[in-house]
Amino acid sequence: MAATVFVTRPLPDPGVEVLRAAGLEVRTNAEDRPLTADELRAGVAEADALLCMLSDRVDEALVDVAPRLRVVANFAVGYDNIDVAAVRARGVEVTTTPGVLTDATADLAWALLLAAARNIGPGERLVRSGEWPGWSPTQLLGQPMRGRRLGIFGMGAIGRAVARRARGFDMEVVYHNRRALPPEVEAELGATYVSTDELLRTSDFVSLNAPLNDESRHVLDRAAFDRMKPTAVLVNTGRGALIDEAVLVDVLRERRIAAAGLDVYEFEPRVTEGLSTLDNVVLAPHLGSADVEARAAMVELCSRNIIEVLAGRPPVTPAPG
Ligand code: DGY
Repeated sequence: MAATVFVTRPLPDPGVEVLRAAGLEVRTNAEDRPLTADELRAGVAEADALLCMLSDRVDEALVDVAPRLRVVANFAVGYDNIDVAAVRARGVEVTTTPGVLTDATADLAWALLLAAARNIGPGERLVRSGEWPGWSPTQLLGQPMRGRRLGIFGMGAIGRAVARRARGFDMEVVYHNRRALPPEVEAELGATYVSTDELLRTSDFVSLNAPLNDESRHVLDRAAFDRMKPTAVLVNTGRGALIDEAVLVDVLRERRIAAAGLDVYEFEPRVTEGLSTLDNVVLAPHLGSADVEARAAMVELCSRNIIEVLAGRPPVTPAPG
């Protein structure tokens, strides 16, 4: 009997063809919506492999209903939706998609940085409203990039790709990470290691690129926002819960920082009340990896991970830890 893969959402091209071509039986949630916990349990119960999304919670309770399960392939580089230790303790491998979405996510971070700094949101709303009176010397003046300091919190592959793009804007780059990068990597990126405190106090632009874990949850809380410059622009393409979103609403409303650009939300897909009525925040619907090349590569990498593990070989990109 062919091994079975359960896929929790319809996939972009090349879809499930890679899995089928490897002789696997594929069952897919045909509806483009997250499964309920019950539906996920029912879907995985008879499966040998699970290809899941960042919105699917995978923990020991789920694995316990799936006695045949051998691999969970997360369609994301972040894996805070999976209790990796508990799943691995039951002999099930966990994989993610590093590398293939680095540039897509760094591009999106820059799209938000520029949009927030240059008032693209309010400007677009003004033009669409039909009320635009025409060009004005005082209209929607934003923050320049050149010569300003970009602080990157989380200097993994995506943080580094964000740093590389800053060169083209003649910015100074500082970063904070669990560990400082080797000096030759810092030199290549033109980035200087600083404490979180210094990063927040001195940066004109702050980009969050860290994974979500117990250490990084609410790294931007009230005390952290109090340290930031009133002209600072904040961008989050990591995970929503890096920020205490209720505090962010107050901070933006009171203009204690200038603006923000968000791709991810603390209670995704719910957006904290008050956020969507503010003019100084750009809101994207978790588009970090959403370019055609990145998404196709994610499909291929998830598929390869599943094929390798089901063939008794090590996965290509196991989740860290
Ligand atoms: C990831 O892969 O973790 C991204 O957030 C998906 O867009």
